[in-house]
Amino acid sequence: MNFLDEIKERASALKRTIVLPETEDSRVLEAAARIVEDGIAEIILIGDSEKILSDGNDLGVDLESCKMIDPTEATDERTDLIELFVDLRKHKGITMEDAEKMIEKPLYYGTLMVKAGLADGMVAGAASPTGDVLKPALQIIKTAEGINSVSGAFVMIVPDKSFGQDGKMIMADCAVNPEVDADTLGEIAVASADTASKIAGLDPKVAMLSFSTMGSAKHKLVERVQQATAKAKEIAPDLSIDGEMQADAALVPSVAERKAPDSKVAGQANVLVFPDLEAGNIGYKLVQRLAKAEAVGPIIQGLDKPVNDLSRGCSVDDIVNLTAITALQV
Ligand code: ACO
Repeated sequence: MNFLDEIKERASALKRTIVLPETEDSRVLEAAARIVEDGIAEIILIGDSEKILSDGNDLGVDLESCKMIDPTEATDERTDLIELFVDLRKHKGITMEDAEKMIEKPLYYGTLMVKAGLADGMVAGAASPTGDVLKPALQIIKTAEGINSVSGAFVMIVPDKSFGQDGKMIMADCAVNPEVDADTLGEIAVASADTASKIAGLDPKVAMLSFSTMGSAKHKLVERVQQATAKAKEIAPDLSIDGEMQADAALVPSVAERKAPDSKVAGQANVLVFPDLEAGNIGYKLVQRLAKAEAVGPIIQGLDKPVNDLSRGCSVDDIVNLTAITALQV
């Protein structure tokens, strides 16, 4: 069974409830119908139920089994969520009036449902930029205990099975933090190892990537990766992690033998932690295009409850797959 079929099968066993707020998008409606039909998760759609059902009809998909909530309709649930919102953000000066307006935005209503425990997770981004999906999640759901920074990982599946674990590996942060300090980078490494084992089924071996291997170059950016490695070891002393190292030393045993002979990670890494978002975002896209790798994600890691962000160019399959992954993160 391939990785994505396995993910969907594992999700089906959990019967989680996932919110899909972007019901104006036909791909979302098609995905919702398929997710429910295949038993991958229960779905909540945010929007006017008559319009959703009629749009579904036009698309030839059956959405009767999805729960539908209109965020503009006055209900007890909406009142409770507005109160929750004001309570969570009053230190930022939000008023009842602001909250009443903002909750009409499906991304806010959906995020508040997850926070309140009315849904297990949310998948959005088919019709919204990354920031619009992540900001409500960062403001309302916030980070999990002990984590200060949310980040974004990809499961990369490269055709050459000699890399990673049978060609499967995690790359992070490819999606969220434009600039990180050493402590944050260390946290991202630990969160990525968690994603590697929980979602990708890997036994994590984490390489902290740099343009230097084990002190071969001297630069403040190299020192930052060294400090991040130390931080990650402090947070997770049993984690198999090493750095700093170059990508070839991380992945290729013969290079590792020469550049980092004492490392238990070099040459066998299956979690690649990039030094910043520029490297991570460019790196995963190069591997995706040049090596014809499958890139599954970004999987947003470090939130207290799962919210995941789709690319606006996503397919119906991408929405179905990310919904399954979200169910596994709960
Ligand atoms: N982790 C945890 N909390 C965070 C993080 C983070 N990484 N970033 C911001 N926050 C919190 C802030 O502390 C703040 O909380 P508060 O309101 O309770 O004080 C809240 O989020 C909002 O903060 P802002 O400063 O308003 O948000 P910011 O402008 O930093 O935006 C965002 C956050 C949207 C994640 C921004 O960093 C961003 O745009 N990142 C790049 C996303 C991107 O374009 N990625 C590439 C495309 S994705 C792809 O190609 C796969």
